[in-house]
Amino acid sequence: MNKYDFLENHLKNLENKNRTRSLKNIQEVSARKITLESTQYINFSSNDYLGLSSKTQNFEDNTLPSGATSSRLVCGNLELNSKLEKELSEWKGTQDCLLLNSGYQANTGLIPAIADRHTLIFSDKLNHASIIDGIKLSRAKLIRYKHNNLEDLQELLSKYESSKARKLIISESLFSMDGDYANISQLVKLSKQYNCLLYIDDAHGSGISGKNGIGPCEKHIKDIDIYVSTFGKAHGSFGAYCCTSAQFKKYLVNTTRTLIYSTGLPPALLLQNINSTKQVIQADVERQKLSTNIETIRNFLKDESFNTIESKSPITPIIIGSDQDALELSEHLKSDGIISLAIRPPTVPEGTARIRLTITADHTEKDIAQLKQSLIKWKNAR
Ligand SMILES: Cc1ncc(COP(=O)(O)O)c(C=O)c1O
Repeated sequence: MNKYDFLENHLKNLENKNRTRSLKNIQEVSARKITLESTQYINFSSNDYLGLSSKTQNFEDNTLPSGATSSRLVCGNLELNSKLEKELSEWKGTQDCLLLNSGYQANTGLIPAIADRHTLIFSDKLNHASIIDGIKLSRAKLIRYKHNNLEDLQELLSKYESSKARKLIISESLFSMDGDYANISQLVKLSKQYNCLLYIDDAHGSGISGKNGIGPCEKHIKDIDIYVSTFGKAHGSFGAYCCTSAQFKKYLVNTTRTLIYSTGLPPALLLQNINSTKQVIQADVERQKLSTNIETIRNFLKDESFNTIESKSPITPIIIGSDQDALELSEHLKSDGIISLAIRPPTVPEGTARIRLTITADHTEKDIAQLKQSLIKWKNAR
């Protein structure tokens, strides 16, 4: 047997199922436009909900060193870290904040820091891969509850009520693939009733709604033990943070391996994130435009009987079913000048391949008209 056989076998298997992924060369990208293979398209695939990725460039400031030189716990903790952490905790209204290098590193670092093999983790079935990986790394007992089904969660919580183990409920606030919202107030209530820690990943929710863009956790943030969000979505940047109590932060600084054993964020990026945070807070006009665009597209999809599940957010899935059909719709949109990618299992459950349409504040009426026309054409041809 050749030691490289597994590569070919794996790739062949993916090809047979139409599930090969590949990296595309992109010449230019923003919330609204994308240039691929020298052709410009309308972009309905980015997470740049407020259109800030092309408006927050400070990298020309060459007075800043390009790297942090080490982990923050060694000599990489430039003052810009605490400045940004202070601004984020003031914005979210929490005692403290801890920066992490990305949302993926936040979930794969924080969860194992809080949970060990004796912990019970109650996790929504549709939680993001980074949460699942964090749970795996923690070796905690994983108890999955049906997506957004709080009766199911409560049943499971009561089943384990007498257990003395540490318990943790984990949910996204706005689900990355279905575009629906968790019921944060009920999660808070259940976490209190059953003495569980509450961990919310607000990667997609932060910035897009609420006063100053605080997002869907606005009214409950003080009751969330670990609130995680990222700069990679509404901030149009990169990096992540966790808002929490001062005591939790002290604990996490001593236990989070993705913080302790990884180089800190580059100073220029910290500065960019300070600026992008200001921009997100001030982006009321963009939030209003985003909300209008979401409503226009959602009403259209509903009127045309497309299956968008319960989405009321910038993440608007069009559920197609088979991988092949979802790929075909994506190709059809591309031929009409629109990029919106097909999302297939294992990212989404079997039989729910979809187009994950993401709507931003930058999309114009003309972009939306072009999208509508293309979707109607596809529907009529079937
Ligand atoms: C819910 C959720 N959490 C975390 C992440 C990872 O964030 P980042 O891109 O900052 O690594 C994502 C990214 O798609 C996400 O959807």
